[in-house]
This record gives sequence, C-alpha cells and structure tokens, in this order.
Amino acid sequence: MSKAAIAEALSEARERTLALVEPLDDEQLNRVYSPILSPLAWDLGHIANFEELWLVQTIGGREPLHGELGRFYDAIENPRKIRGELPILRDEELRSYMADVRGRTLDVLEGVEIGPDVEDPLLRDGFVYEMLLAHELQHNETMLQLLQGVAGYEPVRPEFEPGAEPVPETPELVRVEAGEHAVGAPDRGFAYDNERPHHTVELPAFEIDRTPVSNGAYISFMEDAGAEPPLYWEREGEEWVSTARGRRTPIDPAQPVIHVSWDQADAFARWAGKRVPSEFEWEAARDRLDGLGHGWEWTSSDFLAYPGFAAFPYREYSEVFFGDTYKVLRGGAWATHPRVARPSFRNWDLPLRSQIFSGLRCARDA
Ligand SMILES: [Fe+2]
Repeated sequence: MSKAAIAEALSEARERTLALVEPLDDEQLNRVYSPILSPLAWDLGHIANFEELWLVQTIGGREPLHGELGRFYDAIENPRKIRGELPILRDEELRSYMADVRGRTLDVLEGVEIGPDVEDPLLRDGFVYEMLLAHELQHNETMLQLLQGVAGYEPVRPEFEPGAEPVPETPELVRVEAGEHAVGAPDRGFAYDNERPHHTVELPAFEIDRTPVSNGAYISFMEDAGAEPPLYWEREGEEWVSTARGRRTPIDPAQPVIHVSWDQADAFARWAGKRVPSEFEWEAARDRLDGLGHGWEWTSSDFLAYPGFAAFPYREYSEVFFGDTYKVLRGGAWATHPRVARPSFRNWDLPLRSQIFSGLRCARDA
C-alpha cells in the first residue's frame, strides 16, 4: 500500500468505527452492559491509544498525549469486567483524543519509509499500518458483539445488520484425499505472527460439509436431543425468535446458526454422526467449501504455535494465549470486515463463549 492508500484506509476504518456508535449517546457509550464485554468508550479509547502507542510513540518517537493513560487501555492488564470502573477518557475528551492521535499519526506517516526494502520489520511493506487497520476493524466486531445486547440499537449502515447467505439444511459433503496440505500465511503480505510460518501438514482422508450448520438443522437437534438454544434465542409458541438488540425477530431456518459455544458445537456434531473439523482440515478444504462470512466456525484445535513460531511484534498478541485453554475458530462472520477475514486467519476463544458470532460445520473421517 502507498502512503495515500494507508491514509485512506485508516480514514475509512475510523468512519466505520464512528458510524457504529453514531446512534448512541455518551451514557450508552459509558455503560457496562456485560461483564464479558468492555463498555464502548473503553473500546474507542483503546483503539486510539493502541494507534498512539504504535504509530505515534513507537514509529514517530513522540511522547504520549496523556502521560500514563495508556495503562488503563492495556487489554491484558485490565480484564473486561473491570474496564467500566477505570479512569478512562469519556465523552468530549474521548472524541478529541481520537482526533488528536489521528492527526499525529498522519503527521508521522508523512516522514516514514514503508517500502519492501526497509530494514525495520515494523515498517517494511507498511506492516505496522496494516496491523493498526486490522486492530480497529477487529474491535468493530467486538463492539458489534456488545451492540447485540443494546435494546433499540438501530444501525446506520446495512453492513451492521446480522445476515449471511442462506445455507441448505442438509449440506453436501466434500471429500479431501489423504496427503500433505499447505497451511498458514504466505511469507509476504500482512498476517499475524500466529499464522506463520507457512508449512505443510499431513492429514488422513476426510469429508467435510461444504456449508455450515443452518438454524433449521440446529432446531432439529434441539428438538431431538433437548439441547440448549443458542444465545439470544427464545421460544415463542411453536417458533423461535432472536431477542438480540431487544427485538423479537423470527429465526430464519436457512441462515447459518451463530451464537453457539464450542460445547454446543461439539454436541451438535456428535448428534449429526460427525465431528467438529480440525483447523487444518478447515484450511485444507478452503478452496472447495463455502468458507468466509457465514460465521466464525469452531474447530477441534487448541490455539497453539505453528512449528518455528516467532512472536512479532509483541508477545501479547498471540503467544500468551497459546495452550489448551482456547479453541481456534476459522472463517469469519457478517460482522467481520473482509480485510480481517483471510483463509489463514486464526480466531480463538474460550469453549464456553457464545456472545461471539460463532457457528460450525461438520466433518468426518473418510
Ligand atoms: Fe485491542
């Protein structure tokens, strides 16, 4: 990307962030809606503070605008359940901080070198700028998670309305032969450290559904196995409705199911006589299945480092989360910006979480 393209993309991302919160007043931005999600004012301040840290302080060598404020926006130091009580910026002060940081970012951008031959890996090919863009757009999705719990929220853009391409209730199975498969992000181009190195994995033959599980199929599972409904579902007579955003919207059986936990996904797959695929099965079949945009899809894989992993540019992005606590999700949801959803992208979360836009597709041994 050229500097002009970077500036343009940064501005598009910021317009999107501000459009998301446009219908809300300051009281709603500051309110704690859920102990597992930040108040929106924290997300907004964190987006700007992360930008200041990387694009102004690290790249530009400048001092922060608000001294020690940054420690309240550190995502690792401040768990979501306490973020509403922190002395973070609010209201007008928050809005001017976001604008002031952006002004400085563009100022610094003028004077940096970002070509392919630049020595600093942060600047080479504009890595740090792509990282910041992705960060803001990923926080847009987290904000959309919270907005599902805000009664009366009326989005100003159609892309903020839930919805995906319809999927069949009985998916077609795709067979993938045993062999070696290339996985991970290519060496060039933007990707997070956890997507690298690019490498090959050996997989036995398997079959995987071409499309994710539909609401209709999930309803059959609940009726047959007495399973719990996804988050925001309520029974209304013979029908199911979604209560997200305080509305009562009929559940469309042809939409892919979302808001299911890993445990629910695993139980569904067993009920269907199949299993949740591994993340490498998902990736190996990506060219042959309807993959991105339906919802994040739970996989059976723990969030682990690839062989030869090197943390970059900071340990707290991926490395501190490696282990058997988190499960990997692949794909991307209606709420995921296309810049974020790439085939090698690894999302991760706790198996019990369902406030994320998470569904699944099934696989089985061939
Ligand atoms: Fe963040």
